[in-house]
Amino acid sequence: MHELVTLQANLPEAARSPLVDSDGNGPRVYMRTYGCQMNVSDSQTIESMLADSGYRFCDSPEDADVVLVNTCMIRESAEVRALGQLANLSSLKKGNPGRVIGIMGCVAQAKRKEILDSHPYVDIVVGPDSYRRLPLLLEERFISPPGTPGLLETTLMREELYDDIVPRHHGGVTAFVTIIRGCDKFCSFCVVPRTRGRERSRPLPSILREIEHLVSQGVRDIMLLGQNVDSYRWQGRDFADCLLAVAELPGVVRVRYMTSHPTDISDKLLQVMGSHEKICPYLHLPVQSGNNRILSEMNRPYTRERYLDIISRARRYVPGLALSTDIIVGFPTESEHEFEDTVRLMEEVRYDTAFTFKYSERPLTKAAKLTDDIPEAVKVARLERLIDLQQRIAREQNEKQVGKLTEILIEGPAPKDDMMWSGRTPDFRPVVVPRNGECIGDLIKVRLDALVGFTFVASRQH
Ligand code: 5AD
Ligand code: SF4
Repeated sequence: MHELVTLQANLPEAARSPLVDSDGNGPRVYMRTYGCQMNVSDSQTIESMLADSGYRFCDSPEDADVVLVNTCMIRESAEVRALGQLANLSSLKKGNPGRVIGIMGCVAQAKRKEILDSHPYVDIVVGPDSYRRLPLLLEERFISPPGTPGLLETTLMREELYDDIVPRHHGGVTAFVTIIRGCDKFCSFCVVPRTRGRERSRPLPSILREIEHLVSQGVRDIMLLGQNVDSYRWQGRDFADCLLAVAELPGVVRVRYMTSHPTDISDKLLQVMGSHEKICPYLHLPVQSGNNRILSEMNRPYTRERYLDIISRARRYVPGLALSTDIIVGFPTESEHEFEDTVRLMEEVRYDTAFTFKYSERPLTKAAKLTDDIPEAVKVARLERLIDLQQRIAREQNEKQVGKLTEILIEGPAPKDDMMWSGRTPDFRPVVVPRNGECIGDLIKVRLDALVGFTFVASRQH
């Protein structure tokens, strides 16, 4: 590392960053990302900032001068994985003491002191609102004498939106675009409001500018991201306005979004979804539980009846709507009878996809004050029951699609067969179709002929 610093001596003034060598090459960064799409999107923002400061990227931590891990702590298993990574990083540091190790993301935010106290080889700990400081922290770290205590930057900043930074796009037809950061819902089980801070929306013009830029790079399918996209508010514009503005941008072929909260879904939004062909008929609407007492304990301010009413309105406004959800089993005090309400809700809604989780006690949450009293074996049994049920429903939902005429957006060659394209229907079902002169990013008409597992085999229609 120090070698890089001395190389600077010969550079002209304008290029004299302490990190860039005489050939104009900066240190190599290896970045690993865990967790949700928000973390993926944040990592792309970080990559963009580092690239602007002259850093290069590499595919292996052994080749890197800087190793960054973007962590998730939504459930204990994710946190354990992140902390397990820290143990591996210790040997990387031993292999090259000049290598800078940085921990970012939600675990960095919530466990900052523990990380520095018990992992002295960690150089930098940065929370989700402080990534803008990363280039400076790295510079500082490169020139600190060995043994200097690690640097910490975890202030939660209400106004940070990284709005002026265009995230580094990794190619492909799909891109994630963050439109709102943080969360104010404080579901009793969830650590996110503590690690990602208060909710704030990005100005609409900068969202549209970023998407125009992505379109110029070949992106066709935009996924708008946020912990609660439906809470979007900017100068009197709501999420429906934002969604419509994105759908109307030239070059955008599809727009999708996640995640939604049942209390914020408006009829206006459903109407917009149903009226614009570029807006995908897909709604991810976490229910978490089908029982009203548990919903109230979870601080989810809706009832099962209200949720079901939103689902039927959504299906009325958006014909052919595909639905997905998140469900937690084994929340403290959840009885067998209350769990059955969730099973019945799943049967009633008939989701196309469901993400099901065992309750995991998280620090700093309201539910952590309750005893995590549902035995692991009971949680596992409830989870397996939901997974089995959902698999059956998803298969039946898919079988109903066979024979249908639809459109797919070509994303790339099929993973197992180079002679086929792989793409998705508007409601996000995976499809393969024989290649016949089309290009990546084309929208083509197909008929869904057969199902193999959860993938459709289609034929081209003209
Ligand atoms: N335990 C289990 N699942 C959780 N989720 C959030 N917090 C927890 C927790 N403590 C799930 C919720 C949320 C999804 C992203 O993760 O279902 O919607
Ligand atoms: Fe967590 Fe609830 Fe906010 Fe989603 S809405 S991030 S589950 S607190």
